[in-house]
Amino acid sequence: MSRDNTDDAADRLSRRHYVAGAGTLATVGIAGCSGGDGGDGSDGDDGSDGSDGDDGSDGSDGDDGGSGLEIVHWWTAGGEEEAYNALLDGFSEEYPDVEITDNPAPGGAGSAIDTVIQNRVIDGDPPSTFQIWPGQALTPYTDEDLLEDIGDSVWDDEMRDAYRGGIRDLSQPGGNLVAVPINIHRLNNLFYNVSVVEDAGVDPSDIEDPAGLLDAFETVDAETDATPLVHQTQTPWSSLQLWENIFIGQQSVDDYQTLIDGDVSGLEDGIRSALELLADYLEYIPEDAGSISWDQGNDDLIAGDAAFLHQGDWAAGQYGGADDFEFGDDWDMVPFPGTEGVYHSVIDSFVYPTNNPSPEATEQFLNYAGTVDAQERFNPIKGSIPPRTDVPMDEFGDFLTRQFEDFQDSDDQPPTIAHGTAVAPGIHSALDETFSNFNGDPDVDAAYEGIRDAF
Ligand code: GAL
Repeated sequence: MSRDNTDDAADRLSRRHYVAGAGTLATVGIAGCSGGDGGDGSDGDDGSDGSDGDDGSDGSDGDDGGSGLEIVHWWTAGGEEEAYNALLDGFSEEYPDVEITDNPAPGGAGSAIDTVIQNRVIDGDPPSTFQIWPGQALTPYTDEDLLEDIGDSVWDDEMRDAYRGGIRDLSQPGGNLVAVPINIHRLNNLFYNVSVVEDAGVDPSDIEDPAGLLDAFETVDAETDATPLVHQTQTPWSSLQLWENIFIGQQSVDDYQTLIDGDVSGLEDGIRSALELLADYLEYIPEDAGSISWDQGNDDLIAGDAAFLHQGDWAAGQYGGADDFEFGDDWDMVPFPGTEGVYHSVIDSFVYPTNNPSPEATEQFLNYAGTVDAQERFNPIKGSIPPRTDVPMDEFGDFLTRQFEDFQDSDDQPPTIAHGTAVAPGIHSALDETFSNFNGDPDVDAAYEGIRDAF
């Protein structure tokens, strides 16, 4: 039955339909190159290897379902690849006949994937499925009807009941359910190397607010040889997310909500204050911050060469794979100062692009991604908690068990800007550009204007 649905959808679509959507997607894609990853965009051409590109034009190729499944994602960094492979292992046990074509677009926070995907969607040659944040990031696709409605074929009653309601809502920004979320990461974490902060005489749980963290950096700098804050500025997202957390820590979740609703001018003082403190923090990052990735930076923390890292808990996934680096003894985490009680959420999902090259296999994969088995295999390694409510937590380890308790006890779980759920891609791209500039030259006036204009 579901197969019929997808065939119908394929019939409805034509190459012209894709071209009609191209303007919107191309606009976002071009702006999205501002982070300096444009070189990777050429990978988009790789899509041509799946000679299916031509087949798609007649929209009638429903009979090739059940064979290859091409997945585009960015999970190649520390710990993330293992989690992704665990997901694929589980899928292959369930569906041994499906051949998987793994097609990564590496780059933290999807910094290279947009161009690849948009080019392929515009060319009418989408992969079977791709990784994307639910919420606002989906809207260029849903606005153009480029994602299949999977409300019947995948989201059956069992799955609807099992998912946390707020997460399910993010999967239907245009009304129809179009995405399957697979995890919930927390963003407002301050990770630290236990012995480095002990050597410095700093107790992270005593740091009360974002300004207090600057004092801690100064102390680490004075008392040890370690980098106070290991941070990457090669791409803008890590500074954007840090600014979000400084803003929440100094102001409030209510103000942050006002911000993402676009009411910037009433928040000028708070926005500037967070930018000023971010500029001060950037005095304490590694000299090579402009040429490292987030996980290369995290290696420094693991090695004892850095004290603190602000990052989503995918960083903890990397610690899970490190030798002799144990939670509690060697590393730990406190909520970013001033954000206790907040679970600033980052969510990943997979979608079903229309004109799909493998209708049956794609549906099988999305069905699997929504199961307890998939989420139990993937999340403990990834450093995230499951969006389903019925996943046994026994294998999640002490850190994620604590995160899960924090999630359940949290007062707010706002969506993030830097990871696409909170704002439309056009705003996100403009903010990336602003923070890319700020990384090179921390000019608070220019950045404030950039933020104001972005919204
Ligand atoms: C986020 C994504 C996470 C993780 C992180 C670092 O956008 O949601 O799963 O991959 O980027 O690349």
